[in-house]
Amino acid sequence: MANYPTPHINASPADFGKTVLMPGDPLRAKFIAETYLDSPVLVNNVRGIQGYTGTYNGVRVSVMASGMGMPSMGIYSYELYNIFGVENIMRIGSAGSLQEDVHVRDLVFGMAASTNSNYARQFGIPGTIAPVADYTMLRTAVAAAEAHGARYHVGNILSSDTFYDDDAGANEKWRRMGVMCIEMEAAALYLNAAKAGKRALALLTISDHLVTGEATTAEERQTSFTQMMEVALDTAVRLEQM
Ligand code: HPA
Repeated sequence: MANYPTPHINASPADFGKTVLMPGDPLRAKFIAETYLDSPVLVNNVRGIQGYTGTYNGVRVSVMASGMGMPSMGIYSYELYNIFGVENIMRIGSAGSLQEDVHVRDLVFGMAASTNSNYARQFGIPGTIAPVADYTMLRTAVAAAEAHGARYHVGNILSSDTFYDDDAGANEKWRRMGVMCIEMEAAALYLNAAKAGKRALALLTISDHLVTGEATTAEERQTSFTQMMEVALDTAVRLEQM
């Protein structure tokens, strides 16, 4: 096992809580830390991938950015699980909806993360492995979402390597298989968790609709992100108390 600090995280295992919330955007990590955590301390800033640890309702919680895409999520989640001793990682991000009944601002829990990525190839599985969320984290987070009165869906999501895809028919094929939305990081997170024997979950808010073009105001978008962050923090507290 590699030693810390790593080329990507200039910290030690004691700097992180048991649960790390991971938005893609470093500025969102900073916002969550400054808005919700008591006594937040900046524990990483390599490449501007800000990571903070503080307390929420008395529980030590960390929040660190993943960057965009599976290679980036792959690096940070690998190091957090295998080098920094983190047990639970919860991605919190945005996604584009593929289903008419999955509306802008709804929450989506990725029970499974289908993917067009080759990330799993490294594990040499003699077949196709299904990247799945940790069930304990999933049911804990769903209970938190219900306590917050959130509108939510649970099911299959797509982790895509492309935001701009040359295949104009691809989204429709995923939609027909019931895949709820597209994002770009969960499958790598779930596979790293499986390999490390740790827990992972992706919680998304729908920021845009890829089928109906349904739109939202910046203010409404912020409100739904706020709800997602509060559900995620509540989940971290519930996991600690188990
Ligand atoms: N594709 C991938 N990731 C996304 C999207 C999308 O349409 N919307 C928000 N995150």
